[in-house]
Amino acid sequence: MVIGLDIGTSGVKGVAVTSAGRVAARAEEGYALSVPRPGWAEQEPERWWEATAGVLERLCGEVGRPVGIGLSGQMHGLVALDGRGRPLRPAILWNDQRASAECEEIEATFGAAELVRLTGNRALAGFTAPKLLWMRRHEPDLYARIAAVLLPKDYVRLRLCGEYAHDVSDASGTLLFDVAARTWSAPVADGLEIPLEWFAPALESGAVAGHTADGIPVVAGAGDQAAGAVGVGVLAPGVASVVLGTSGVVFAPLASYRPDPAGTSHTFCHAVADTWHGMGVMLSAAGSLQWLAAILAPGADIGALVAEAARWEPGVEGLTFLPYLAGERTPHADPHARGVFAGLSLRHDRGALVRAVMEGVCAGLRDCLDLMRSSGATIDAGVLSGGGARSDLWAEIAAGMLELPLTRTDAADGAAFGAALLAGVSAGFWRDLTEATAAAVRPRDTIEPVAADVPRYRELQRRFRALYPAISAVSPESANPAVPAP
Ligand code: XUL
Repeated sequence: MVIGLDIGTSGVKGVAVTSAGRVAARAEEGYALSVPRPGWAEQEPERWWEATAGVLERLCGEVGRPVGIGLSGQMHGLVALDGRGRPLRPAILWNDQRASAECEEIEATFGAAELVRLTGNRALAGFTAPKLLWMRRHEPDLYARIAAVLLPKDYVRLRLCGEYAHDVSDASGTLLFDVAARTWSAPVADGLEIPLEWFAPALESGAVAGHTADGIPVVAGAGDQAAGAVGVGVLAPGVASVVLGTSGVVFAPLASYRPDPAGTSHTFCHAVADTWHGMGVMLSAAGSLQWLAAILAPGADIGALVAEAARWEPGVEGLTFLPYLAGERTPHADPHARGVFAGLSLRHDRGALVRAVMEGVCAGLRDCLDLMRSSGATIDAGVLSGGGARSDLWAEIAAGMLELPLTRTDAADGAAFGAALLAGVSAGFWRDLTEATAAAVRPRDTIEPVAADVPRYRELQRRFRALYPAISAVSPESANPAVPAP
């Protein structure tokens, strides 16, 4: 048995996986997200550790001692530690938007094109480096005490093994990483005056990065998107991982390192050794539907709301929703972007709003898909995962909007399952990830786009793309209205 853990935004998920690739046990423990100010998102690293310890105890109680552990987790979070490895403040998470001024500062220091040349990416508020600069400006006393910086799952590793280590996929999202060379970037660290000594070596995801106190090897692991892609068998170009989770993602393995020249989408190291992937990330995907359900029908079953949505035709008679409730990363890189319903009529009811949200989220995914393709990714099909993928209606809308066949697999545990497969390869269950995913990833069904719906979805996509620039004119705070939709 190996165990995979995912240190997520809402809790820790763990799975125990057999050498035949079957899930033998699963456990989950939740924790809260703190939003001390609008646009901020923080968590106490200690809660991650408590939840991890609880999940491990339950899994080991059920299946016994594992032969390996794999870690995955929410990416980009800043865990700033003192000289004794204690967090100096709550972690600043991936969806925290406070560091927009620092992004401008970083881009002014290097120039956007040079930043993409050095790191494969543009400066986005969610990334780690801008958060460090925010801390330097706003919390200089704490900043002066920093001795080490880790990402969320790597903090859990520190508690589990006493080791400081990173992996290349998660390190890619710090903006301090030379993604092409798969190592920390001295020019970026020097330019920002951030000491690289704060960072531990970044290992390939399958490498053993430490051992628990009782000698269980713990592999370096991967950021949740790369681990999730492994968990659904998305290892090589051709098939994209499409995620309808709290965040929405299109993740495309690349044939070689090939950054998006405009840096509008991300280029990161994949968890498959020596390969890369492109990625577009929406900040509010299934999160948009949760928001709508909570205000329209508090406590109601989302399934019932979705059944009301299914009564509407594609395009919802001209109703369009922009899902930028928490700002947006791809394609607009605008922390100040906001959501909107446009085209409301007296005929629209609750189901119409729900369907418009589901469609608007998929229109955002289509923007991501087109960006991936325009920067060189080959995508002929997708694997759909995340909480939203459980809805047949949402899966049908996604297939129609993306014009791709979308396969759903049995692996409900996404990133934790992928982390377990990384640990399983290291433990010798399988020769490599290709063999691991062939043995362990089981397709459940494939949803094909319905040809008759495609023209209506294309019309919706046209409206959707026209809306953000139009809304920017009445959004005085918008930081980046000049960035065009793809
Ligand atoms: C990826 C990203 C999110 C978080 C969510 O770049 O920011 O997917 O990792 O957990």
